Amino acid sequence: MQRNLEGKSIVVTGAARGIGKAMAEGLASEGARLIIADIDEDAAAATAEGIVAAGGAAWSVQVDVTDRARVKAMIGRAVRENGRLDIIFNNAGIAQTKPFLDITEADWRRMLDVNALGVLICMQEAVKQLLSQGQGGKIINTASVAAKQCYDPLAHYGASKFAVAALTQAAARAFGANGITVNAICPGIVATDMWKTIEDGFQTAGLTTKPNEAMDAFSSMITLKRPSTPADIVGVAKFLASAGADYMTGQTVIIDGGMIMD
Ligand SMILES: NC(=O)c1ccc[n+]([C@@H]2O[C@H](COP(=O)([O-])OP(=O)(O)OC[C@H]3O[C@@H](n4cnc5c(N)ncnc54)[C@H](O)[C@@H]3O)[C@@H](O)[C@H]2O)c1
Repeated sequence: MQRNLEGKSIVVTGAARGIGKAMAEGLASEGARLIIADIDEDAAAATAEGIVAAGGAAWSVQVDVTDRARVKAMIGRAVRENGRLDIIFNNAGIAQTKPFLDITEADWRRMLDVNALGVLICMQEAVKQLLSQGQGGKIINTASVAAKQCYDPLAHYGASKFAVAALTQAAARAFGANGITVNAICPGIVATDMWKTIEDGFQTAGLTTKPNEAMDAFSSMITLKRPSTPADIVGVAKFLASAGADYMTGQTVIIDGGMIMD
């Protein structure tokens, strides 16, 4: 059976769990050699071990995406294990639910640090490596439907994801001539630990009273009538990493069951 990503050296941040883990496992099943990068060292190691046990190639790296030295080391690990870097998925992120008037400067800075500055640093260090190799490459950022439509108790989260869309467009224009494509995935409502954090935030703020009330309310807007699982995102991730997406850049691809239509 032909595998679409045979031997490709791919870094996925935030790959210890959730969407990043599902994408990494899917990419490994296509023959890619994965760096499982996450701030949670033990969970990242467990994800990498699972991929290896399934016959794939994966190594775990502990990284805080806001720490440039650690990000450089993460890229260096990909080069050490695989001889080069081909693709990076900048997927690590955090969420917080807070009513608009309650968002503090500290909330804003933490959100923008991890979700926007972290993506910028990872993009910069990956691009430097790709430019040094001189053969192009692919950058795929995880944005969100919140990069298209923002809802009240997620203002700073949405701002960070609009920033990811902006970074995606700017870098696509900056490095297109070098054969580096830059695209973003915009998931909708995905049942992960992050969504539990969002749901708890709705209840803490008194905006909902029952478990899953926020997910049910958002899900009522979904054309396909169910929230996503991480597995729903994997097909688009594989496609964007593949040669089939070579002529695609600067795009923010919504995969949300038709919740919003752009
Ligand atoms: N769950 C959703 O509904 C949803 C929807 C749209 C977009 N997203 C985005 O998808 C991405 C993955 O989300 P998820 O739902 O899988 O969340 P998750 O919380 O399950 O996983 C996020 C991962 O990122 C890691 N991480 C957090 N901060 C980090 C840091 N500073 N450095 C390195 N790793 C760090 C966490 O340890 C965790 O393993 C995020 O960027 C998120 O914003 C999620």
